Amino acid sequence: MNSTNDSLKLAAAQRAAAYIEPRLSRESIVGVGTGSTVNFFIDELANLKHLFDAAVSSSEASTDRLLACGINVVSLNASPRLDVYVDGADEITSERNMIKGGGAALTREKIVAAAADEFVCIADISKRVDRLGGFPLPVEVIPMARSLVARHLVDLGGKPIWREQTVTDNGNWILDVHDLVISDPAEMESRINNLAGVVCNGIFAQQAADIAFLGGPDGLVTI
Ligand code: 5RP
Repeated sequence: MNSTNDSLKLAAAQRAAAYIEPRLSRESIVGVGTGSTVNFFIDELANLKHLFDAAVSSSEASTDRLLACGINVVSLNASPRLDVYVDGADEITSERNMIKGGGAALTREKIVAAAADEFVCIADISKRVDRLGGFPLPVEVIPMARSLVARHLVDLGGKPIWREQTVTDNGNWILDVHDLVISDPAEMESRINNLAGVVCNGIFAQQAADIAFLGGPDGLVTI
């Protein structure tokens, strides 16, 4: 990742921290996503740790970073309601529909996002697209169903590639689906989730972000 992109990610992360700060109370639980942009956010969140109770994390990697920053991490089962969830994206549209899962954390990300009152997306402006699908869609599958699911994804018009060497935090595998035409993101999200053997797919349309801060060379863009 180049330093320009890093400065844009940092700007988005700082904006998200400023956005959530007045919304935090000593009882607040903050949902935290996964990825390089979120890593900047975790570093910002460390400065606010006296203002909230704990974080719920979407991955082992984010948990490690949160703990290293001295932020209390609790399980989702111990915290039924989250004030806010902050996460990155691989693609985002003007409707704030997203593709996520480049870091293979999509399932836990979707779960934690579902428990939050508000989803704040942070990214650099290169993630903004008119239509989802340029970024290969990650699909988490039960290992024994990899070939079966791949055949169904071909029937849907995609070219699934097994992300070999990657095992998710849930012990599953990832298929990255290239060239999928996603004209109705919510419908495609349901359709892929309904395939036997699919744990979760990386379309976030039924749970689109509520607000997005995108770092750009001319400043922050808010969607
Ligand atoms: C991880 C994700 C990330 O949010 C997404 O891949 C963006 O990552 P980055 O901030 O490193 O570009 O969905 O599963």
